[in-house]
Amino acid sequence: MSKTNPSISFRHASIDDLSLLKHWDEQPHVIASDPDDWGWGDDLLHFPDWREQLIAELDGRPIGFVQIIDPAKEETHYWGEVPDNLRAIDIWIGEKTDLGKGYGTIMMNLAIGRCFTDEKVTAILIDPLETNTAAIRFYERIGFQFVETRDFDGSICSVMRLEKKKWIEKSTSS
Ligand SMILES: CC(C)(COP(=O)(O)OP(=O)(O)OC[C@H]1O[C@@H](n2cnc3c(N)ncnc32)[C@H](O)[C@@H]1OP(=O)(O)O)[C@@H](O)C(=O)NCCC(=O)NCCS
Repeated sequence: MSKTNPSISFRHASIDDLSLLKHWDEQPHVIASDPDDWGWGDDLLHFPDWREQLIAELDGRPIGFVQIIDPAKEETHYWGEVPDNLRAIDIWIGEKTDLGKGYGTIMMNLAIGRCFTDEKVTAILIDPLETNTAAIRFYERIGFQFVETRDFDGSICSVMRLEKKKWIEKSTSS
């Protein structure tokens, strides 16, 4: 592995990842970013067409999690009334020792590319807690822009959005 170009890839999460995901869920930096309980046992057995749950691996070693949903089709309607052809992403690195090494940027770029591979998808939403200033900075660097502050069931979040057009402009200029 080259330090400047680590090889990160996604695979679909499965029930075999249950203990790993529960372990990551207990890490203070993960709790701080998302205090909600994830229904792993159920989620990892069901694969609706509006959701992908992915494990990021660095040279075969699991390092993080990414969820991509279609917010218009997601069954709890977490995002409320949203138009078709959007995606929403959740992301975290599992172990504290893997933070701040550039892995999240690579994972996010892979996830964004995956969303925009579908030609119909026009933009991507994320909802970091308003207090998660490090993650907000991380998303801004990638190209997301602040939309609004929103209360999701008592969690005050900064809704941010990345337009496909902006992503393509950024990708072709770098
Ligand atoms: C956000 C996250 C996925 C970014 O991945 P990463 O590999 O740490 O990020 P990179 O190394 O590519 O980029 C570093 C940037 O990540 C951001 N970051 C966010 N949370 C961080 C953390 N707990 N530790 C270190 N960096 C963090 C910072 O903006 C940092 O840049 P800085 O130099 O301006 O502080 C990762 O830090 C993480 O899992 N954080 C905890 C969970 C979380 O906040 N998820 C997002 C919920 S919306």
